[in-house]
Amino acid sequence: MFEINTNPEYQFGTTLKCLVKMLPRDVRHNLTYWQLVENLLVVSNDSKPVEAYWSELFESLKTEISIGEDTFAHFNQEISTKSRSRSSEYFTPRALTELVAKRTAERLYYLDSVKPQDYYTILEPSCGTGGMLFSLVRYVYLTRPDFIPKLQFIVNDLSIANVNATTLNFELHLAKGIELRPLISHCGDAHDLLLKYESQIHAVIGNPPFHKVSTSSIDPRCAGRLMTCYSNTEEAFILNGELPYIHKAKASKLSALCELPETIQELAIRLLCPFGFTAFYLPSSILSNSKSRPLRRLLLEGSVNSNSISLLGVTEFPPETFLHSGTRVGVSLVETMVGESLHKTNDGVMMCQVKSIGWDSRQRQKESDLPKIEAVNDAILGSYKMRLRRGIMSQQPIKDILNNAA
Ligand SMILES: C[S@@+](CC[C@H](N)C(=O)[O-])C[C@H]1O[C@@H](n2cnc3c(N)ncnc32)[C@H](O)[C@@H]1O
Repeated sequence: MFEINTNPEYQFGTTLKCLVKMLPRDVRHNLTYWQLVENLLVVSNDSKPVEAYWSELFESLKTEISIGEDTFAHFNQEISTKSRSRSSEYFTPRALTELVAKRTAERLYYLDSVKPQDYYTILEPSCGTGGMLFSLVRYVYLTRPDFIPKLQFIVNDLSIANVNATTLNFELHLAKGIELRPLISHCGDAHDLLLKYESQIHAVIGNPPFHKVSTSSIDPRCAGRLMTCYSNTEEAFILNGELPYIHKAKASKLSALCELPETIQELAIRLLCPFGFTAFYLPSSILSNSKSRPLRRLLLEGSVNSNSISLLGVTEFPPETFLHSGTRVGVSLVETMVGESLHKTNDGVMMCQVKSIGWDSRQRQKESDLPKIEAVNDAILGSYKMRLRRGIMSQQPIKDILNNAA
């Protein structure tokens, strides 16, 4: 019913690429990713007459039957790696977006069974063209179509072309009859989301940019509240009461540069409501380098907004994982959740190493380890369920628990 797609030929959607061949040769040859998105956006809004072939292209996309396709990823990823490297536009291959989709959906289904709500907020702070979001739509569509109206997506990206591409992808899904709640989209720096959504989100998922930026480029109201923006992050977490006191902490200043995977991971945790969770692809170096120790300590021992943080699992992938986007980097899927109190349990962390993703360093197909890690998926889900149940029980008076059990 749902199988993770590890075919190296099919890591980004190819439909639009085939359909673009409908465009006249001269248009097709001079076409940039931005023009493609902009022209389709104009047609979809029906605001201005444009050449008929754009309408034809949009109509063909609407009638295309597949669900969960990220129509625009291919076009973005064809831009030179040099220009994409400025804002780390290296999109996540489908095999990895589908893994996050599966784990995210299963946790939401469980959350819904024990704490039902009208809808669940899922936020992607650096969404690209929406690959992760649409893999989630596909997984839910195939496993629990009744759950689709409960998905409230919120997306953000620094690039307006990417936000527009995600919006168009979303509209195409609505046109195909998928009953999603209206998309909430933002275009800007991911850190600004702290001002809008602190402690409100059920799931923050994604693959943040991996480069450094000047801390002064971040809104001071956000940088000042993210401890990973400080030169001595550990002291800053301790002074904030979010890491246990180990020595006399001294005040720390904002640093000149900050690492986006660290600041966005911290941001994601701060956006979570109780029992919310994160699933982020981060550079594997974060797991071992000494500079990232304070963030690791936060995930293992810390708290945010008086709620404990738990590290659920770490799944490591080989350097060839991102070859389709034009880069080689070791990444790990880091999954966390927050509890409803400072109550902390030592339940261990599920660690897993995926040695083969389904292709080799020359993108030739080889057997993937992903089908073999079902037990890890179950164990990470089990860990989330146990912490969630325990969290709920610790809030209930003992007499209610006994009454319920009777
Ligand atoms: C590694 S890509 C991941 C895209 C998408 N999440 C995926 O998984 O395919 C990183 C994305 O972050 C965006 N980006 C870069 N800097 C950003 C920032 N400061 N705030 C928000 N998005 C940013 C880029 O435009 C790019 O789309």
